[in-house]
Amino acid sequence: MRLIPLECATEVSQWAARYIVNKINAFQPTADKPFVLGLPTGGTPQKTYQELIKLYQAGEVSFKNVVTFNMDEYVGLPKAHPESYHTFMHENFFNHVDIQPENINLLDGMAEDVEAECERYEAKIRSYGKIHLFMGGVGVDGHIAFNEPASSLSSRTRIKTLTEDTLIANSRFFNNDVNQVPKFALTVGVGTLLDAEEVLILVTGHNKALALQACVEGPINHLWTISALQLHRRAIVVCDEPATQEL
Ligand code: GLP
Repeated sequence: MRLIPLECATEVSQWAARYIVNKINAFQPTADKPFVLGLPTGGTPQKTYQELIKLYQAGEVSFKNVVTFNMDEYVGLPKAHPESYHTFMHENFFNHVDIQPENINLLDGMAEDVEAECERYEAKIRSYGKIHLFMGGVGVDGHIAFNEPASSLSSRTRIKTLTEDTLIANSRFFNNDVNQVPKFALTVGVGTLLDAEEVLILVTGHNKALALQACVEGPINHLWTISALQLHRRAIVVCDEPATQEL
């Protein structure tokens, strides 16, 4: 694992955006050979999306031949809901770059047959061979995507019940009312993430210090699913100084 400790969250987002752009450009994607990028939501990557948009506007990158797969989506929120990850991604990123709508992949949290939806998603990823680079964040309790504590480390895309900790953490997006936070989410599995050619995780803020410790120094264990990164040959963790407090 490469650990990149930087001073502040702004540096983390600039580093991550530059890394992603360099990867896309080095790959020289075409319509027949797109670059496949896994993407997260949450507060942490927001600045990275802003940096990516800046680089796009400066003509340093095109997303025309980039295919994206988002890691997760709430169950029961219509796409147009202001807090759906579908809305988040369009508002924070997709609407500002030249990505082709047909290249955007998100799980459907309103799917009637959840199992079929998850299988469809895994099959779609497989149809591209693999995800070249999966960017992610981490929850305070060490969850990666929505792979809550005690998730199987070889899990695939499926429905997960969100823990009380996650409901509380995410209530800030739902009028600080924990009862408004959906109780379930569809999420790629730890196994799905580990299959990516490269995984790039952003960790910022002192509230993520225990998660970073579990990721870097802890034993591989299903209670801190972020620790599964230790099993990956090409995992990169970019963090700010406050997140390193427990290292
Ligand atoms: C949610 C998302 C995760 C994200 C986590 C942390 O639970 N499913 O993908 O990493 O929140 O979010 P934040 O960056 O806002 O702390």
